Formats: sequence, C-alpha cells, structure tokens
Amino acid sequence: MAARVIDGKAVGAAVRARVAEEVAAYEAERGRTPLLVTVIVGDDPASEIYVRNKHRACEEAGMRSAHHGLPAGTSENELLELVGELGVDRDVDGILVQLPVPDQIDPDRVVAAIDPAKDVDGLTPVNAGLLAHGMPGLVPCTPAGVMELLRHEGIELEGAEAVVVGRSKLVGVPVSRLLLAANATVTMCHSRTRDLAEVCRRGDVLVAAAGVPGLLGADAVKPGAVVIDVGTNRTDDGLRGDVDFEAAAGVAGAISPVPGGVGPMTIAMLLVNTVAAARARV
Ligand code: GUN
Repeated sequence: MAARVIDGKAVGAAVRARVAEEVAAYEAERGRTPLLVTVIVGDDPASEIYVRNKHRACEEAGMRSAHHGLPAGTSENELLELVGELGVDRDVDGILVQLPVPDQIDPDRVVAAIDPAKDVDGLTPVNAGLLAHGMPGLVPCTPAGVMELLRHEGIELEGAEAVVVGRSKLVGVPVSRLLLAANATVTMCHSRTRDLAEVCRRGDVLVAAAGVPGLLGADAVKPGAVVIDVGTNRTDDGLRGDVDFEAAAGVAGAISPVPGGVGPMTIAMLLVNTVAAARARV
C-alpha cells in the first residue's frame, strides 16, 4: 500500500478539544453553555447510534444536549410544531432533525421550518443559499469535515482538479461549493455520468459521496491523488465506504478509511457549528 492513511479520529479529536476550549470561554462570558437539541422520528437503529454519539460528544466538550424521540407515526404537522417551538425557545442554540424521517413526513418541509440561525446541520434553504452565494452561514457538517481533513493534510486546493462523486444536498452539492470557494476546479459526477472512472481519474482530490459500497476502484484514482471517502454503507461485511480501500490505496497518495475517516469529523463539525450558532445569537 502506497497511500498515507488520513486519521479522521485524530483530526476530529483535535477539533473537539478546540471546541471544548471555546465552550469554556463562552461559558465564562455568558454564564451558560450552548444547547443542542436533537429530534428522531421513529426507531431507526442507525439514527439512534448516530444521535447517541452526538450527545456523548456534546457532553465531552462541556456542552448541553437534549433529545426528543417521537413515535414512528408522528405526523408532519406535529413535527413542524415541535421544530417551531424549538426555534423560538431562547435556550436552544442548535436544532438537528435526524434524517431519514418516516414516509408520511416531507423532509424538505421539516428542514425548511428550522430557524436558520439554529440550523447546525446547515441544510435549510437559507444556509444552502448563503453557501451557494459564497456568504457566511452554517455549513453542513460532513462537507465541513471533508474540508477540515484536506486542510489538516495540507492539500493545496487552489487550481487543483477536484472530482466529487454524488450530488446530495447533505454532501455532494455543499462539498462542491466549498471546494469551488477554495478555488479548486470542480467536476461533479453522479449516477448518470458516463465513464465514471475516467472522469474520476482527473481528480487531484477525489471525494466519494455516492452511497454505493465499493463503487470506486483503483482505475478511478489518479496516481498520488487524495481520496476522501464519505460513504458509510452498512453491508453484510460491516461498514463500507464508496471506495475499494485496498485497491485505491495502491494508487492514491493519501486516503481516508471507513470507518475512522470522515465519520468522526461530522460530529466534530456539528459541535463547531453549535458553538458558532450560540455565539452568533444575541
Ligand atoms: N442522517 C445522516 N447524516 C445526517 C446528518 O448529517 N444530519 C442529519 N440531520 N441527518 C443525517
């Protein structure tokens, strides 16, 4: 294996230690700590694990967190009502409605109802629009984590070819915008892209966020490229990324593993966003 393995656990821990210092400073100034509120509708086991980890991370950083677990049969209006109440609650700094939500609920309507100032997921149309316009706002956690990994690795993005595989609102689109803002030349690929591997091979930086286990092999990697695997696919063999790690590591210059790459960064950046949201509120 030629590639350097990018240690998301270590980079995430460093970010979380920085957040803990910021929380202490915030508390000294304001006499309170930031409060993150999470919401899950139903009992998706993966969501339960993700959200539990988010609460643990809040606690370790000295922040408060609260949780609303709603029954699977909750109506869209009931969820909208709760999101509205959290929006006007002066004590709440961050609101996170864990996705997916059950079929009777339109996730776009729910996300759009979140107060943009408390949208620590960075998913509301307001924050997505600010990002699209290159204006300051709350940035989605996973894309922010990808950028933090690239920064930590000292990757020069200015003028670099960056290829993003996947066009989701949660990852593909926002990470493309962030790479563009960093002056990379960005190519977006998706399920209809012809000659996917060939297009991917342009990338000095390759971000895989398609949600298809093992989609990208050695033939998709430019020699020496930095490969960031955002895939978190639950398979019979456990958690797998979108990249065939062993194959790609033989060609790449650096590569993030799954697990232990982008995953720990997502939670770290959620904490960053929650402190930023608390600070920005008056
Ligand atoms: N489900 C999977 N990832 C995420 C995320 O980053 N935010 C929310 N709200 N739900 C998710």
